[in-house]
This record gives sequence, structure tokens and C-alpha cells, in this order.
Amino acid sequence: MIVAETERLTLRHASPDDAIAMRSVFCDPEVMQHGDGLQTDDWIRLWITRMNCNYNERGYGLWIITQSFDTLAIGYCGLTWFPNINGRPEVEVGYRLARAYWGRGYATEAAMSVRNLAFSHHDLDRLIAVIEPDNSRSIRVAEKLGMKYDGEVLLDGYDHSDSVYACQRE
Ligand SMILES: CC(C)(COP(=O)(O)OP(=O)(O)OC[C@H]1O[C@@H](n2cnc3c(N)ncnc32)[C@H](O)[C@@H]1OP(=O)(O)O)[C@@H](O)C(=O)NCCC(=O)NCCS
Repeated sequence: MIVAETERLTLRHASPDDAIAMRSVFCDPEVMQHGDGLQTDDWIRLWITRMNCNYNERGYGLWIITQSFDTLAIGYCGLTWFPNINGRPEVEVGYRLARAYWGRGYATEAAMSVRNLAFSHHDLDRLIAVIEPDNSRSIRVAEKLGMKYDGEVLLDGYDHSDSVYACQRE
């Protein structure tokens, strides 16, 4: 199911058929340098199942990005609910692209459409991005979304703090 279309990209629900293409995201050390590390094929299949549960239960999740002229998954962008970020529930905008597609403005283009969906369709008032402090590319994308630095958070299971960027619905 298509969720959003931008000038160059389509965002749609993840399907089991995306598992092989998403290896170029979840199994590339450069793409996974910031985050939970390299993942396996079984983990990718589970991720796709988990995303489909999120779409059903919350109405949102992380969606597959494709170029508009193609059906090949090149990454993801979407929304994740966190029950407790420094004592309050938050919704995060997340983005990750296969290495071959970096540097074209795709992450910003996808994330802007997700931000607009979050504020219009999902009626959210605030969005955050949780970013490792040395992930300059990702911080730049957050800034281009209109997000500002909003403090630090130590997530469960992590041994270092991440930076929180946030923006409000205008
Ligand atoms: C972060 C990521 C999604 C960005 O994707 P992208 O499509 O290349 O991003 P965009 O082209 O929309 O924007 C990147 C911005 O970062 C800038 N940038 C690129 N390399 C940079 C660097 N080393 N330091 C600082 N800024 C940098 C670009 O110039 C651009 O900003 P500009 O438009 O003002 O020039 C992509 O690099 C990625 O998937 N990284 C690995 C996963 C990840 O870290 N995800 C975020 C987890 S919080």
C-alpha cells in the first residue's frame, strides 16, 4: 500500500518481497555504523513482519522508500513510537538509505513527507529524531526538517547517550 508520493520517491508498506533488497541497508557496515549494527536475513524478515504489525496497530511504522519509477526498496523512512524518552512518550522520524542512494537529497525528501503526514494525517504535535552525536549527515537531515537540538537521552540497552532533535507542529 502506498503511503506517500514525493517528486522523486514513493513510500509504501514493507512486504516480504523487500527482504533481499533491504540487505543493502541492514547488511552494509557503512549504513549500519550508527544504530544497532549489522543484521541477518532472519532479522530482516522479522523487521518486515514487525512493521506490518505497527501499520495495523498504530497506523504508522517505518515505510519502504522506492524511486518513483521503480519498485526496488532503497531504504526506509517513517515513524516509531517510543514509550519513554526522558520520561515522556515520543514519536520519532527515522530514515536509512542504501549507500548507493546517499547524497541526492532523498532522505530529506522522504522525511519531509513523513513529517507532513505525521502532523496532518496522524495528528501528532511533536516529532523527535534520536541521533548519535557524530552522525553529522543525519543531524543535517533533521535540521533541514526544522528540528532543533533538544537534549540527550540514554536508551535502554545502550552504553552512550544519543542527541534528541525535535520539532513541533506549527
Ligand atoms: C543519514 C542518511 C539517511 C542521509 O541520506 P541522504 O539522502 O544522503 O541525505 P540528504 O542528501 O537528504 O541530506 C544529507 C545532508 O547532509 C550533508 N552531509 C553529507 N555528508 C556530510 C558530512 N560528512 N557531514 C555533515 N553533513 C554532511 C549533505 O550535504 C546534506 O545537506 P545539504 O542538503 O545541506 O547539503 C544516510 O546517510 C544514511 O542512510 N545513513 C546511515 C543510516 C543513518 O545514519 N540513519 C540515521 C539514523 S539517526
